[in-house]
Amino acid sequence: MRLTVIGTGYLGAVHAACMADIGHDVLGVDVDVEKITALAEGRPPFYEPGLDDVLTRALASGRLRFTTSLREAAAHGEVHFICVGTPQQAGSQAADLRYVDAVVDGLVPHLPASCLVVGKSTVPVGTTARLTTRIAGLAPAGVRAEVAWNPEFLREGFAVEDTLRPDRLVVGTESPEADAMLRRVYAPMVVAGVPYISTDPNTAELVKVAANSFLATKISFINAMAEVCDAAGADVVTLADALGHDTRIGRRFLNAGLGFGGGCLPKDIRAFTARAQELGVGAAVAFLDQVDEINQRQRARTVALARRLAGGDLAGRRVTVLGATFKPNSDDVRDSPALAVAATLHREGADVRVHDPEGSANAQLAHPELRCSADLLTACQGAELILHLTEWDQYREVDPVKLARVVREPVLVDGRNALPHEEWRAAGWTVKALGRPTPTDRPDSDRPTTPLRTTITSPATGPDRT
Ligand code: UDX
Repeated sequence: MRLTVIGTGYLGAVHAACMADIGHDVLGVDVDVEKITALAEGRPPFYEPGLDDVLTRALASGRLRFTTSLREAAAHGEVHFICVGTPQQAGSQAADLRYVDAVVDGLVPHLPASCLVVGKSTVPVGTTARLTTRIAGLAPAGVRAEVAWNPEFLREGFAVEDTLRPDRLVVGTESPEADAMLRRVYAPMVVAGVPYISTDPNTAELVKVAANSFLATKISFINAMAEVCDAAGADVVTLADALGHDTRIGRRFLNAGLGFGGGCLPKDIRAFTARAQELGVGAAVAFLDQVDEINQRQRARTVALARRLAGGDLAGRRVTVLGATFKPNSDDVRDSPALAVAATLHREGADVRVHDPEGSANAQLAHPELRCSADLLTACQGAELILHLTEWDQYREVDPVKLARVVREPVLVDGRNALPHEEWRAAGWTVKALGRPTPTDRPDSDRPTTPLRTTITSPATGPDRT
């Protein structure tokens, strides 16, 4: 089938390459000339494992091309996928739909024949209906462009796998013909047994925001438990493991730590709240404000823990932050909890070095005041405190004995509860983490008013005994 994919960010670039890979004739479209040039040459404009291979394969097959022209796109597609961003509006919780509207306005007047316009971006419920009216006013005489919604659930870092082998396909259409067209688009996946959920556009739009709200709630739930664990002297990782054995709950997305960030979960729960208020049901999702608050609080709690370990004042302290991206296997630093903490430590006067295997260049652009590097040993040299804030595999493979030799003080905050604490302690490190008692912690010892015995000013002479 002839498809266009409009918007070639994390979602669109992967969708375009994967649709070509499963046999469609795809035209990828973006306003960004640099991005389009890079993609056309087989260079992904961002780090996403496996994308370079699919892209190279798709380009070589001749089934994938790129353009900046919506006029060309209008001429090409039987199905047009809208994959542009829907960021948070400046000064509001709501989603900014200007890029979606701009695609429709630029595409529809040039349509030579009836076709299907399919939204994949995350949007407020009711968007399909609004675009249907907008399109009716823009379409050339005799041309009908039906709008459908087909939300995308891909995770960065697993985008190719999630696109080729999704957990489910959700398709919201107004007509059986539109549904049949989308079944043809996804035929290889449907044949392979991927559940295909056929519904109305409102439900399809809502599935996406509901899914992201649920995931965010799960993370904030376990982080709220971590706060209780800190007060009670209990262990949130064991708690999560025990909860996770209940198959009704499940262990995934119960990793306590610094909380969620990125280009999706934070802005999606806020946009959902704003939309629910417009619909007069704000009270039904008011809990999402709490989810957001709990999430933000973990950043403050991590800074407070670092400050306490520094003896109450971070000014002049050499601190190294491991991880700049919002999650591992990505170079995306949008709303990154790790970078937010690093920036706060810097504002409090710490001499901060940030390391990230893939995101250091983006981090440096976003925060010129920080010193970002992709070399681990350089970043850790002379550190008085190390904060592990994004759980790249590379950090799990670090030898704590060797690292202890390059730092000034072997003190670690594991903001992701992902490192082997016992191994680090055995190598002489003081290890602290949210929601984890250290061997002799008393209940409440993590409260700001109670100073810890060990600060990074005192030389660490052996395993953490605080
Ligand atoms: C998310 C959804 O998972 C995906 O379905 C949707 O399409 C887009 O939004 P993504 O933003 O790529 O995907 O990241 P995800 O893997 O969901 O992680 C989001 C954030 O939550 C990261 O910052 C991660 O570190 C954090 N997280 C995740 C936790 O803090 N604890 C967990 O247990 C899981």
